[in-house]
Amino acid sequence: TQNYRITLLPGDGIGPEIMAVTVEALKKLGAQFDLSFEFVTALIGGSAIDATGSPLPEATLETCRQSDSVLLAAIGGYKWDNVPRAQRPETGLLGLRSGLQLFANLRPATILPQLADASSLKREVVEGVDIMVVRELTGGIYFGAPKGLFTTEAGEQRGVNTMGYTVTEIDRIAKVAFETAQKRQKKLCSVDKANVLEVSQLWRDRVNAMAPSYSDVEVTHMYVDNAAMQLVRNPKQFDTIVTGNLFGDILSDIAAMLTGSIGMLPSASLGADGPGVYEPVHGSAPDIAGQDKANPLAQVLSAAMMLRYDLNQPAAADALETAVMQVLDQGYRTGDIAAAGDQIVGCQAIGAALLKALD
Ligand code: NAD
Ligand code: IPM
Ligand code: MN
Repeated sequence: TQNYRITLLPGDGIGPEIMAVTVEALKKLGAQFDLSFEFVTALIGGSAIDATGSPLPEATLETCRQSDSVLLAAIGGYKWDNVPRAQRPETGLLGLRSGLQLFANLRPATILPQLADASSLKREVVEGVDIMVVRELTGGIYFGAPKGLFTTEAGEQRGVNTMGYTVTEIDRIAKVAFETAQKRQKKLCSVDKANVLEVSQLWRDRVNAMAPSYSDVEVTHMYVDNAAMQLVRNPKQFDTIVTGNLFGDILSDIAAMLTGSIGMLPSASLGADGPGVYEPVHGSAPDIAGQDKANPLAQVLSAAMMLRYDLNQPAAADALETAVMQVLDQGYRTGDIAAAGDQIVGCQAIGAALLKALD
C-alpha cells in the first residue's frame, strides 16, 4: 500500500461542500488502487480569520509543507470583504502560493463533448477546444513593490500596485510553458502587453530567447486585449498559453466559460519541488453557498490532477476522470452546466453518482 498525506483546505462558501464530495471519491479510489490517504484538514481564508484572526495561520503552512500534496477548495465571502487587506481571505491564498513558492499555475480548459451545449458560445465554436493556460502565480502585479495606499504632496490619496518581473521569474515560467507545449500540440502563445509595458517587453524578449532551445514548439505572441477577443472568437486556435499573474487570472476565467461553466475547471499550482496545491479555478460562490447547488466537478478534477502530477498515480487519475465523464453521460447536471430542458440535481447527488460510477 502506498501512503499519502494530503492536506485539505476546504475554506469558505461552497468550499466544504465540494471538498466533501471529493474526499469521498478519493477514499473509494484509494480502496480500489491500494492507496492509503491520510487526510489532514487545516484552516485558510475567512474561516481561518474567524478561528484564529489570520487568513493563513503558520500552522497551516507547516502542515502543507509536511504533506505530499494539498487540496484547496475556495476562500472568500461577503463577511470578510471589508476587513483590512492584510487579513483578507484572499491574502491568505496569496500567502499560501508564495509560501510554497508555487510559481506555475496550470489551468486546463477542455470542453467535454457532453457539455458543448452548456457553453454560452455556439457548439461549433467550442467543440474540440483544448487549451492549457500556464499562469505565472507568485510574481507580477499581485506581489510587486511599491504597493499600498499613499498620499500625494497635494494631499490626495493614491492607490499603487507595481507590475514587475525579473529575468529569473520569466525564465522559470517560460520553461514550464515550453515543456507543457512539447507534451501537447507544440503551439505556445505568449500573452503580454509589450506595446505599452516594459515588463512585457522583457517577458517577450526572454520567451524569444528561449525559443531556439525548443525548436519543435511554434511560438507566437499576442497582446492581452486581442487574446481576450480571440479566445471568444476562435478558441480552437490556441493550444498552450503562457502569461503573467493578472492576465492569466482574467484569461483563465474566459477560457473556463468556453467549457460550459467555471464549475468544471481544475488547476494545479506547482513549484520547483515540494507539494503542489490543487484547486478549482472558481471562487467560494457565496451566492449559492450552503444550498447544495455547487458543481463539485472542478474540485474532483483538481484531485485527478493531484493524482497525476504530485502522486504519480495516472491510473487512479484516469479512473476518476472517467467516472466524471460517466456522471455527465448519465445526464447529471448542476444548474451551472444545465442546458435547456436538463433536469438539475444538487452537489450531493453528483457526489453519490460519482461514487456509483467508481464502482
Ligand atoms: P466565484 O467564482 O466564486 O463565483 C462567480 C459565479 O460563478 C457565481 O455566480 C457562482 O455562483 C458561480 N460559481 C462558481 N463556482 C461554481 C460552482 N462550483 N458551481 C456552480 N456555480 C459556481 O467568483 P466571485 O463571485 O467573483 O468571488 C466570490 C469570492 O470568491 C470572493 O471572495 C473572491 O475573492 C473569492 N475567490 C476565491 C478564489 C479561490 O479561492 N481560488 C477564486 C476566485 C474568487
Ligand atoms: C484565482 C482567484 C485568486 C487570484 C484570488 C481569490 C486571490 O481569483 O485563483 O483565480 O486572483 O489568483
Ligand atoms: Mn481568478
